Amino acid sequence: MLHVDPDIRRAHTLPGDFYSDPEYFERTKIEIFVRSWQMAAGPECGKGVTPFTLLPELLGEELIISRGFGGHVTCLSNVCTHRGMILVDQPCQPDVIRCPYHGRRFSPDGKFLSMPEFKDAVDFPSESDNLAQIPSFTISNFVFVSLDAAFSAEEVLGPAVELLKRPEANYLKPVGRKEYSVKAHWALYCENYLEGFHIPYVHRGLNEKLDFGSYEVDLMPFAVLQKARSRDGDLAALYLFIFPNLMLNLYPGGLSVNIVRPVDPSRTIIEYRTYANDTGNFGTGADTDLEIVEIEDEKIVEAVNRGIRSRYYRKGRYSPAQERGVHHFHRLICKFLEETEHGQT
Ligand code: FES
Repeated sequence: MLHVDPDIRRAHTLPGDFYSDPEYFERTKIEIFVRSWQMAAGPECGKGVTPFTLLPELLGEELIISRGFGGHVTCLSNVCTHRGMILVDQPCQPDVIRCPYHGRRFSPDGKFLSMPEFKDAVDFPSESDNLAQIPSFTISNFVFVSLDAAFSAEEVLGPAVELLKRPEANYLKPVGRKEYSVKAHWALYCENYLEGFHIPYVHRGLNEKLDFGSYEVDLMPFAVLQKARSRDGDLAALYLFIFPNLMLNLYPGGLSVNIVRPVDPSRTIIEYRTYANDTGNFGTGADTDLEIVEIEDEKIVEAVNRGIRSRYYRKGRYSPAQERGVHHFHRLICKFLEETEHGQT
């Protein structure tokens, strides 16, 4: 059983085999990711019906965001209840959703409407002929979904509600979207994000902009907020991590989002989206050269991924001054895995 001491001064980090053992990887999929809240859509998702795949390489669940004209958002299964055809393959604004295979029709909020050649079917239609509805939660124009939430959206996403209420998050417009493939375990990428300890060693350019001494870390039940100030004392960035894999980085000029998508124990996709606010300042402060910072981080995390598999590495220790965020993250991993072991869910 994984265990990390609650007292960071005494605690050891997660063992190396947590990252290399495929069994642990499979457990994190079922016991953490299926039970987590995931960002499904941002301001780029328009009215009507938008198909997407939830964590494509890990969960591969085919879903639809349906945004009504009153702004009401529903998340539905994108799988026909007849014989499993994918219903929608691109964003559209249909009056009805019609299955391209045999013509079953649904309303945009997922209700079964009609089906050809079924008049002799008994007990038809029934509840199970409607599209499955997936719990969703909306913050501004961002939509979050969970397949089987271990905790309520309010508990998990509360810090994101606060962050996205800030004036820097007003009037966000999509600027870009990219994916990076990293040869490392997903948790190593998150751990690296959760401490500023490495900034002076790894990110020379970023370190010139930030005052490392004024770095602040707030731990919340399912989140970690890091505040970075510029060398002249202004707030340069708020880095909010929502367990297990979402990073919301708010700068004076806008927001960047990293969604960490596990592929296998040694490969992770980082989905990276940027949004500018209306100040015209995006990319002028701690958000300058984000690509350089990303590549510097990837190099480090890939090297750790090789190192952590060494037969001479077992566990490490935490810096009580600098690695509270990493310790909290490891404790959350243990909490989710332990609860399932003890049958508490
Ligand atoms: S699979 Fe959709 S109507 Fe047959």
